[in-house]
Amino acid sequence: MLEIKVIVGDIAQIVADAIVVNIFEGVEQPGGATAAVDRALGGAISSLISRGEIKGKFGEVTIVHTFGKVPAERVAIAGLGKRQDFSVDKVRGVAGEFCRALRKLNCHKVATILHGAGIGGIEPEASAEAIAEGTLLGLYSFTKYKKPEYEDIAEMLIVVREKDKVPLLEQAVHKGEVMAEATNLARDMVNEPANYMTPSQMAETAKEIARKYNLECQVFDREDMEAMGMEALLGVAKGSNQPPKFITLSYKGDERSQKALGFLGKGITFDSGGISIKASEGMDEMKGDMAGAAAVMTALGAIAQLKPKINVTAIIPATENLPSGSALKPGDVLKAMNGKTIEVISTDAEGRLILADALSYAVKQGLSPLVDLATLTGACRVALGTLYSGLFGNDQDLVNKVLKAAERTGERMWQMPMPEEYKEQNKSEIANVKNTGNRYGGAITAALFLAEFVDNIPWVHLDIAGPALSNKESGYIVKGATGVGARTLVELALSEARSKEAT
Ligand code: BES
Ligand code: MN
Ligand code: ZN
Repeated sequence: MLEIKVIVGDIAQIVADAIVVNIFEGVEQPGGATAAVDRALGGAISSLISRGEIKGKFGEVTIVHTFGKVPAERVAIAGLGKRQDFSVDKVRGVAGEFCRALRKLNCHKVATILHGAGIGGIEPEASAEAIAEGTLLGLYSFTKYKKPEYEDIAEMLIVVREKDKVPLLEQAVHKGEVMAEATNLARDMVNEPANYMTPSQMAETAKEIARKYNLECQVFDREDMEAMGMEALLGVAKGSNQPPKFITLSYKGDERSQKALGFLGKGITFDSGGISIKASEGMDEMKGDMAGAAAVMTALGAIAQLKPKINVTAIIPATENLPSGSALKPGDVLKAMNGKTIEVISTDAEGRLILADALSYAVKQGLSPLVDLATLTGACRVALGTLYSGLFGNDQDLVNKVLKAAERTGERMWQMPMPEEYKEQNKSEIANVKNTGNRYGGAITAALFLAEFVDNIPWVHLDIAGPALSNKESGYIVKGATGVGARTLVELALSEARSKEAT
């Protein structure tokens, strides 16, 4: 496990495989720590800048050997991009990039300055947290079934000048580590193939998280779901030989309060489409249809470590969606836990079916506000691409809070409309609702469907179909699962606890 430490010293004097400094795009004369290292190297950095070999573009990492001019073997100059575009999220990205570049060179011990804390205008604590997050997220790889290509970096030193800042910076690093570890665990869960990450395995992972962080965990089986009237979830599960699981994880940070936030995650461990079967090309991607579930489960683990004074319950409906002789069929009618009847037009619109019961359950438990995460619609990915989650809500105050939490974590979200008129599309001739609309506005009609099951509880729905997986490596994102949503949920729980304290 990579160790991240905050130490007091002069970066130019650190003994390491590499020290990391930085430069903004377009800057000709480096300043601060970069200038000091440049001087020690006899002007090598400024010379490379004037020759145009170092441009300072975001993501650029230039590595020079020091040949004894400083104790460290190499100096990495990380490009921060344009100063006006700089942000805390850029620090995460820069850390991810320089860490991967140095790992390729077999560096085990790396020391870095606090990027952006000087002229970048970023708080030192925010920079330290972002470096910790970016380091751990950027170096992530899924190694269970194949040896990693490179050896791990073992030690990351964040070198600062003032001693009195160290305790706060250490706290910030700790928060960054917790956030990144939760995200990386979510990535592991999503990257796991569906033959391993079954609903039963999801329940086991939930129990492990509960044991490790002292959370309350409940796992309901098929009979329990039948007793609770979860016909929509059970309908989706009918085609699979894997038993469905309905999982809850509860964190109690405020024993005196009866209230609790509810986080819900779509846990389809494989989505073949069911009888409305998907095209075979790219179907393997559908092992990741439990990314929402992974994010809410791992967020609870992180919340339990950061201990905000608030109660949070996670709810995960988990099942496969497969075709078989016993599978749900188009035209079938199901009654959700809240009594509403649903005509199934497409068995491939299964996410909203299992969430119908999960939301009904959350309402019945009195959880409020509610936030659900789901890889719900291909339409959302078409609309917003792979960088943005679609955000829907029935309460602008909660919407703003989620957007603010997302702003802090760098997880990009875009609010989508929920016009009354489109509700028309979910009307059925024979039941209260049907589970698909027409070709247009598919992410919106899906959200309007979910809204049928939240009563008037403040609720936000995040359609993470776009950003749940990445097909390229960039900044702190690597190929495969991104773990999107986990960090924003943790940040939301922290900020909700802070605002309760204040009132
Ligand atoms: N899990 C899919 C959505 C999805 C698609 C997630 C691509 C990630 C990438 C969901 O269950 C689904 O199949 N949705 C259908 C809905 C349609 C039948 C109304 C879709 O998007 O095509
Ligand atoms: Mn589907
Ligand atoms: Zn699905």
